[in-house]
Amino acid sequence: MTLLAFETSCDETSAAVIRNGRTLSSVVSSQINLHAEYGGVVPELAAREHLRNLIPVAQAALQEASVAPEQIDAVAATRGPGLPSALMSGFKAAQAMAFALRKPFVGVHHHEAHLYSPWISGDPPAADFAAFQPNVSLIVSGGHTMLVHVQAELHHRLLGSTLDDAAGECFDKVGKLIGLPYPAGPEIDRLAEPGNPTAFDFPRPMIHDPNDDFSFSGLKTSVRYFLRDHPALLDDAHRLRDLCASVQAAIVDVLVAKTLKAAARLRVPCVTASGGVTCNRLLRRQLAAACQPAGLTLRLAGKDLCTDNAAMIGILAERRLLRRAEGPSLTEEILPNWSLDEVPA
Ligand code: KG4
Ligand code: ZN
Repeated sequence: MTLLAFETSCDETSAAVIRNGRTLSSVVSSQINLHAEYGGVVPELAAREHLRNLIPVAQAALQEASVAPEQIDAVAATRGPGLPSALMSGFKAAQAMAFALRKPFVGVHHHEAHLYSPWISGDPPAADFAAFQPNVSLIVSGGHTMLVHVQAELHHRLLGSTLDDAAGECFDKVGKLIGLPYPAGPEIDRLAEPGNPTAFDFPRPMIHDPNDDFSFSGLKTSVRYFLRDHPALLDDAHRLRDLCASVQAAIVDVLVAKTLKAAARLRVPCVTASGGVTCNRLLRRQLAAACQPAGLTLRLAGKDLCTDNAAMIGILAERRLLRRAEGPSLTEEILPNWSLDEVPA
């Protein structure tokens, strides 16, 4: 099966061509520069940019895969959750394409697709999903922070999520406090590398709570108060690096501890992680360091597939299409608040 997939739930316009579980092409057009001056994603700007980018991105994906439109067997897109206007632009365009080509259409859940991104590339490259289930999967980005228990293919349960800010949002808001451009996560990662993570003691919210939920807004607020009391720190490059390292260590400690605790409680043999914050070098190192002595297999999304992309949408869509008897409807609507637990198996 050859499938053309789209992802437009937030600020990346992405198209990918998938064939029999393999990614033939994955093209991502990021809008980060467009939204940077506003310090966050502006939904209406995102939707307009998606409309501008969709056709060129689809053409690039087809060309890179050496696939002609008439060779496509199905079209897929993110149905939710996400920004309504952004979702709508990609979802409706994909449905129109499927209608014009007279091919099946499938709309998939964005977070369920994230569960597949650690398996798209890496070692081993061709994913044998079944071999790594059950697992506990951390999905951590600017919009979400959640733990999912993957019991078997298409069977999963949301264990917990953030009660307020996402971890990436915390990186971005702390970055704003210290004058970094949006999104600040990659720059904090870079500044933190030579810094001292124990220089300043920031809270690790909910790290000892018995549930699988997260909370990061209090950590951001404590950085705000700290900077109010130590304004000169912003002019000291050395101490600024220590601050970045200390905040990053607090965020990563919580993510790693809660992921490992869930994996131990559920007795799974494998942990996976995806989402933009999974690019963070300390998080990757700390997850590896914690999983190894616990005898857990760790599978991290490749750095190019951590952030939102259509390859993960297509991989999931293909597996769903292969299992579904009747053709899905072209009249389906987007579901901006779709919960992972509401996705039918
Ligand atoms: O997956 P993504 O593109 O989705 C959302 O927009 O939600 O993730 C973007 C988020 C941003 O908050 C960004 O600051 C964060 O991922 N991020 C990082 C790193 N790279 C991206 N955070 C920490 N360290 C990084 N290296
Ligand atoms: Zn995402």
